[in-house]
Amino acid sequence: MTAVEEAGTHPVRINLVFNDKPVRVPYGVTLFDAASWNGIAIDSTCGGHGTCKKCRVRIAEDPPAPSSLDIRAYSAQEIKDGWRLACRTTATRDTQVEVPPLTTRPKAATVGVGRQVILRPAVQKRYLELAEPSLADQATDLERVLAQLEDLEPRADLAVLRTLGRTLRAADYKVTAVVVDDVLIAVEPGDTTARRFGIAFDLGTTTVVATLLDLSTGTPAGVESALNSQQPFGADVITRISATMMDPGNLDKLQNLAHQTLTELAQAVCAQGGVEPHEVYEVALAGNATMTHLVLGIDPEPLGMAPFIMATRLYPEVLAADLGLGGVVHPRARAVVFPAFGAYVGGDITAGLLASGMDRDARVRLFVDIGTNCEIVLGNREWLLATAAPAGPAFEGAAIRCGMRAADGAIEVVTMTPDDLGLKVIGDAEPQGLCGSGLVDAVTGLVKVGLLDSSGRFVPEEQAASIAPGLAGRLTTIGKERVFVLHWRGGAEDSIYLSQRDVRELQFAKAAIATGWQILLEQAGLTAADVKQVLLAGSFGSYLSAASAIRIGLVPKVPVMRVVSAGNVAGEGAKMALLSLRERAGGLALLEEVRYVELSDRADFNDRFIEQLPFPAS
Ligand code: FES
Repeated sequence: MTAVEEAGTHPVRINLVFNDKPVRVPYGVTLFDAASWNGIAIDSTCGGHGTCKKCRVRIAEDPPAPSSLDIRAYSAQEIKDGWRLACRTTATRDTQVEVPPLTTRPKAATVGVGRQVILRPAVQKRYLELAEPSLADQATDLERVLAQLEDLEPRADLAVLRTLGRTLRAADYKVTAVVVDDVLIAVEPGDTTARRFGIAFDLGTTTVVATLLDLSTGTPAGVESALNSQQPFGADVITRISATMMDPGNLDKLQNLAHQTLTELAQAVCAQGGVEPHEVYEVALAGNATMTHLVLGIDPEPLGMAPFIMATRLYPEVLAADLGLGGVVHPRARAVVFPAFGAYVGGDITAGLLASGMDRDARVRLFVDIGTNCEIVLGNREWLLATAAPAGPAFEGAAIRCGMRAADGAIEVVTMTPDDLGLKVIGDAEPQGLCGSGLVDAVTGLVKVGLLDSSGRFVPEEQAASIAPGLAGRLTTIGKERVFVLHWRGGAEDSIYLSQRDVRELQFAKAAIATGWQILLEQAGLTAADVKQVLLAGSFGSYLSAASAIRIGLVPKVPVMRVVSAGNVAGEGAKMALLSLRERAGGLALLEEVRYVELSDRADFNDRFIEQLPFPAS
């Protein structure tokens, strides 16, 4: 793959050097945005609106033609010397940019996978002391407010007008204007500028996480998670789509259940953070394509069958009320819904990529979000390839005899030597079952000590006794099936065990995932050795042992230090969208940058999948 992909007549990405720091950015973004995305601070008090004239940068060599604002901001000599306003200059060719030291220090927060985000939330508040109208001053109430918000150029919400007259007069014309992006959504009495909040939602098929953010500081004021109330309709997206196909009334029910989950979480985080509902002016939501369709009440049926078509990639303007949150946040709060790459690489992955900064890193990185459907992205700041692999429910604990979700009582870590076995159980409770990470560990341990051969079969009992004398007694049969007992509870049937069929389920899952990343590596002309970091995303990825994942071939064979748990990156991406308009735009830009590789129509998929079933030799 070449460094620069051509799209139309201009390159997709431009090389910029800010002082000494080289970055690559999408064609046509402003230098101000490009710097902001890459954590380089440029002076500004207007946030890139072209009114403060503080965003001074210098392009000494062959500077672009000045804009009309440049001509007003600089002397003729300065223009000649290459001084330009960063927010009015676009990146259209490789350029060296000199950024003077800051005169003011911008606020920044660390979010995502160690990303430094300069705060520029869409929610802006301004305290205004307005002149009272008189017979000589006939400006309308709205004109009076808008005149003081010139740099933000908002349009007013009708609902604001309904109460504006009363609010201004009751507050003695001392009010705070609340602007979200380009809409004046509220005018509040007095000075409320210190209070502005947003809620980031990670709407998962299984679990939903809400983070309340103080938008002035970027710090979380409350975090809560809950099971998605749609669970009774099925554990995965396919069963929920099927439910809407079987009974058209189910779409409404599923939508209401999603709304209910979001509402309860919003109430919980506000209570935790001591925040009034009307102080939450914006929410962001990252979810897979099915969850996003359902929460918005969009028929998901076409997502469930070939050729797997979404209603839309980008969602139109959405209010928090459209997500069922009208009564628990500000009634006119806006919502940011993350766009999706495809039916099986959804908004949660767009948010995850944003949080991980995959598109800004020179290193080749592999992003793997393991779940029933596994999303895989490979690339660096020059190119990104994505695919989805049907891993099945093994990692969620479903389809595994003694499987369970990662909750209290789940065995999450298994260690093994030929003589002994160790278990770590969530909540230090009596083991009740095996969750995904425990499953991967158990199989890895059995392969390592030799009780499972590379094809995934339990070895004969006589052989077991000689290679692992301390464990051989755990190898037994239930009915006709061979099992390995992890935790005895009376007889084998009542114990927590791993069956031959469970091992197969895991093999299918890991083979699907390994086929996915191998095909992406091949398309990029790379090998595992070129991968500088593997990011394991999602709740399952956070618990998985890197060494086990490498040992069974779930991820490429790289030094163990290169495998990193990225945690809840979808939620982190949603937070970034609330904290920074620039990051939000970066998330949208990803849609143009990621190339989707479809696996299901590849003639060689089955052969490749079968090749990946065995466990690699150590
Ligand atoms: S950022 Fe204010 S004028 Fe450019």
